[in-house]
Amino acid sequence: MTDLRLAPRTGREVRVRAPGKVNLSLRVGPRRPDGYHPLATVFQAVSVYEDVVASASADLRVTVSGPQADRVPTDASNLALRAARALAARTGIDEGVHLHLHKGVPVAGGMAGGSADAAAALIACDAFWGTALSREELHEVASELGSDVPFLLMGQTAVGSGRGDLLTAALSRGEYHWAFGVRDEGLATPAVFEEFDRLAAGREALDAGGDVALLQALRAGDAPALGALLHNDLQDAALELVPDLVETLAVAEDAGALGVVVSGSGPTVAALARSRQHALVIAAAMTAAGVADAVLTASGPVPGARVVAGSDVL
Ligand code: C5P
Repeated sequence: MTDLRLAPRTGREVRVRAPGKVNLSLRVGPRRPDGYHPLATVFQAVSVYEDVVASASADLRVTVSGPQADRVPTDASNLALRAARALAARTGIDEGVHLHLHKGVPVAGGMAGGSADAAAALIACDAFWGTALSREELHEVASELGSDVPFLLMGQTAVGSGRGDLLTAALSRGEYHWAFGVRDEGLATPAVFEEFDRLAAGREALDAGGDVALLQALRAGDAPALGALLHNDLQDAALELVPDLVETLAVAEDAGALGVVVSGSGPTVAALARSRQHALVIAAAMTAAGVADAVLTASGPVPGARVVAGSDVL
């Protein structure tokens, strides 16, 4: 038996990894009185990750690393800090924590990187402070933090309704391979929804039954069928704000993508590939044509925010 008193103390820390997401389908209804839009969406969590490490600190503080770290606020508006504060308030915790975020998901890219930070911070602080909230309680705190946060807790594949926070797990067979075209310049989600309103889209009530064929394709593991059914009601608004995206979509399509779509509120372009190798080919085509500032390849579905090996939870 190991004598814990003799074990080297490297400091207590909890490591959590949370994925980004792509909306395989995103249908948007007319703006509600509370300012949000009703959604009918199918989410897939993909293997582009945010890593969050919680460690001891007298106060609540956040640091950030990764390719676009300079674009992430570290003040009270940071979603991971807001998640820590929300959990502390709910559980009566009066302790600090240092959250370090290593960002792999594009910032303001429509892949929910900030929401992934919030989901990861919730899981990390819950383990670090030993508050042991139930899945339902975590979901409640998550949905107060943002519409996409509950899905990043859950991961895999899910149908979202309400403002995107009411989730039902969906069956999905096999592995789907993606190439992503990323822009340095992000898009603010509220601006894209405003443009959507301006284009007078969403005048009609939401067609909640619109994704039956897509869900069947997922159950069958039929990537070509899925590719043909990718859909995003926010795409025209994103293209209006970043007209160059038309070319990014076209280059990915010409490289043989099974389907192309703007991810969430954009401006990241998601291209569904036939295989992992084909995803690399599409990514290379986007790079060669100069239609993306960076490219990523990934696969999905993957699990939601979870504690990863190397953690030292006492
Ligand atoms: O929920 P979250 O804070 O991520 O949403 C950011 C913004 O996106 C909202 O303030 C709103 O302008 C817009 N939004 C919306 N309808 C949704 C989700 C988000 O209009 N269902």
